[in-house]
Amino acid sequence: MDQSQQPLLATRGITRRFGGLVAVSNLDLEIRPKEILGLIGPNGAGKSTTFNLISGFYKPSAGELFVFGENCTGRSALEISRRGLVRTFQHGSFMRTMTVADNILLGTIHGVKGRAARRVRVAETAEMLGLTPYLPEQAGNLPHGLQRLVSIAIAFAARPRLLCLDEPLTGLNQTEVANTLAMLERIRDAFGCSVLLVEHNMKAVMRVCDRIVVLHHGQHLATGTPAEIRADRRVIDAYLGHRHDH
Ligand SMILES: Nc1ncnc2c1ncn2[C@@H]1O[C@H](COP(=O)(O)OP(=O)(O)O)[C@@H](O)[C@H]1O
Ligand SMILES: [Mg+2]
Repeated sequence: MDQSQQPLLATRGITRRFGGLVAVSNLDLEIRPKEILGLIGPNGAGKSTTFNLISGFYKPSAGELFVFGENCTGRSALEISRRGLVRTFQHGSFMRTMTVADNILLGTIHGVKGRAARRVRVAETAEMLGLTPYLPEQAGNLPHGLQRLVSIAIAFAARPRLLCLDEPLTGLNQTEVANTLAMLERIRDAFGCSVLLVEHNMKAVMRVCDRIVVLHHGQHLATGTPAEIRADRRVIDAYLGHRHDH
């Protein structure tokens, strides 16, 4: 296979059960180089579980996980992150009582050696995300929109090959959503990484994603471009018929 087209990440029949509940069922998912892939579906569809499976936070009940072509089924979250996959958490992942600079520094710990190099990385990351003016501020004191950016900055500071974001747009106003989407495109274009965007905000996903995977009750419902997804009868019936774009 052409190396540049090998998927960064692939799941084969990945399944996760919680007791009698099948949260994710037999899912095949592929994330390609330099794409922004949206993972959408109503509440409870299995988005976060999928996210936890591919980042190694949950072990699959069945199926396999390949990261950069290597079978990583059952590997720990740390082992997977060392291969270049970095994630945020749905309810934010930063230290409220630390400064923005120290928060971003956390993201450099595994990937960057030496204090000077880390400082440079923090400054570059802040610049890329428009956080430079806020570096000395305590993260917990920032407005919600900026706190979300701090979570992304921590993840991005590791310069991942795959940046995985769990509902990064929740609670943002329209301007903040537009800014965050533009920033994701900028990061992708500048660093050639892929982005997995788990989102509830349909309009935003349609705007920024190259491809979209739709989950419904833990099952794969459809994969396609935004235009294909918008026109897909099954998606419209299961999801788009309702208003989820608040
Ligand atoms: N740790 C867990 N223990 C038990 N059930 C869980 C756990 N995580 C998720 N679930 C269940 O799995 C289903 C999918 O949840 P989730 O992946 O969080 O969906 P989404 O992120 O799409 O809203 C839900 O029914 C949820 O209650
Ligand atoms: Mg979720």
